[in-house]
Amino acid sequence: MSSGPWWRGAVVYQIYPRSFLDTTGSGVGDLDGVTARLDHLVWLGVDAIWLSPIHPSPGVDGGYDVADHLDVDPLFGGLPAFDRLLAAAHERGLRVLLDWVPNHTSSEHPWFVSSRHDAAGPHGDWYWWADEPANNWPSAFGGPAWTLDPVRGQYYLHLFTSAQPDLNWNTPGVRAAMLDGLRYWLDRGVDGFRADVVNLIGRDPRLPDLADLDPANPNDLVGRYRDPRTHDLLRAIRAVLDGHFLVGEVPLADMSAVPSYVDSTQLHRAFDFSLMEAPWSAQAWRSRIAAAEAAYGPAGAPAWVLSSHDQPRHRSRHGGREDRARVAACVLLTLRGTPFVYAGEELGLTDPELTPEQRVDPLGRDGSRAPVPWTAEPGHGWAAPDPWMPWPPHAARRNVEVLRAEPDGILWLYRRLIALRREHPDLRDGELTLLDAPPGVLAYRRGGLTVQANFTDSPVRVPRGEVLLATEPARDGMLAPCAAAVLAG
Ligand code: NOJ
Repeated sequence: MSSGPWWRGAVVYQIYPRSFLDTTGSGVGDLDGVTARLDHLVWLGVDAIWLSPIHPSPGVDGGYDVADHLDVDPLFGGLPAFDRLLAAAHERGLRVLLDWVPNHTSSEHPWFVSSRHDAAGPHGDWYWWADEPANNWPSAFGGPAWTLDPVRGQYYLHLFTSAQPDLNWNTPGVRAAMLDGLRYWLDRGVDGFRADVVNLIGRDPRLPDLADLDPANPNDLVGRYRDPRTHDLLRAIRAVLDGHFLVGEVPLADMSAVPSYVDSTQLHRAFDFSLMEAPWSAQAWRSRIAAAEAAYGPAGAPAWVLSSHDQPRHRSRHGGREDRARVAACVLLTLRGTPFVYAGEELGLTDPELTPEQRVDPLGRDGSRAPVPWTAEPGHGWAAPDPWMPWPPHAARRNVEVLRAEPDGILWLYRRLIALRREHPDLRDGELTLLDAPPGVLAYRRGGLTVQANFTDSPVRVPRGEVLLATEPARDGMLAPCAAAVLAG
């Protein structure tokens, strides 16, 4: 094992609680469901779990509309279920990260209810209010970011849905209350947080227009928004963390700007989404890895991610092919930085085709939120046979029970990759050097190891060494079509 903080080369497993496992028969996943499967995560070998929001929420944005930062939704089992989960995770050596949503609350949060009813009251200036829409900002969910509130008779700002009013971090009370929220969960024992769209919290109080907004891209503002005040706020947030881990979502389109949010006084890590957007091409993946290496330099590194609750699963994005999903996993888990695995990608899941009636997310991001199948029988281990979202395709085969019995399957590949990362400090923490390689092949060194990934559908001749792990057996001494290998030397 390498020295240094636990998170540096760690593997974090993202759980979307609604989709993990239901133990009550509600059809919605819950925290006792997570606790029940912690031993599986220990078997898989991950270091930590990150729970997407678990707080009381109307669920307009899948829990990212938080109505009480200091509680756990009864849907998930409330605070007692959370305490059980935390204790059981710690007993097993697993760290637990919570999602922290600082940019906005639910419109049902008592702070907003108070703000809209009483402009002169204690929460009157906790949100952004104006008599007219104060600028040209769009909502990332479409339409303007300003909505008229009939109660207060003013417009409020919301960069996401109108049920998610933006907090005004320039108000001292907001800063104090949000930081107290972090302290509350740290006191309860959590190991850190994933901070949602944290680049957005610093604001020039004049809320100036953003020039040249692309009207065809509602996400343009979120992807370009920068304000120096965010850095000061991050320093205040980090000071509260007192050594606990803070990974941030900084979804800037220009990834080269993201490392300015990551240092010893701000975020420990920020997500790099560039591989999520990359086509299936060795050159495209290479250029994104090279860009991250250049942007961070040796002192920093990203939190790499292939799949999440916001995007189609990576296997779906790459033609539904398991061989590609395997190659992608091999790259993800051998990169420098902190890889995040999204629950179910280790089963090679793809997204279900959904009818409009089955969709619940306003942006249609439902596919990757399909429930995780644990067993082969029709209910797949869930207490309710018919969960809130349809099963992913081929759930009778792509489930934990079946795949744990297949040592050549994708689940075991994830397990072997994570174990290899644990065994080799070079993989967790060593330098990364991109290597020259034949067309269609991505190759890099991690200290004493070499990773080769063949993105083509033909075998390729590459320098060989002792194969520590391969996604497909070599053919005639060649790297197999659409295969990856980790070599010693
Ligand atoms: C990013 C989250 O991942 C996404 O699901 C959510 O809609 C937005 N932030 C707003 O909270």
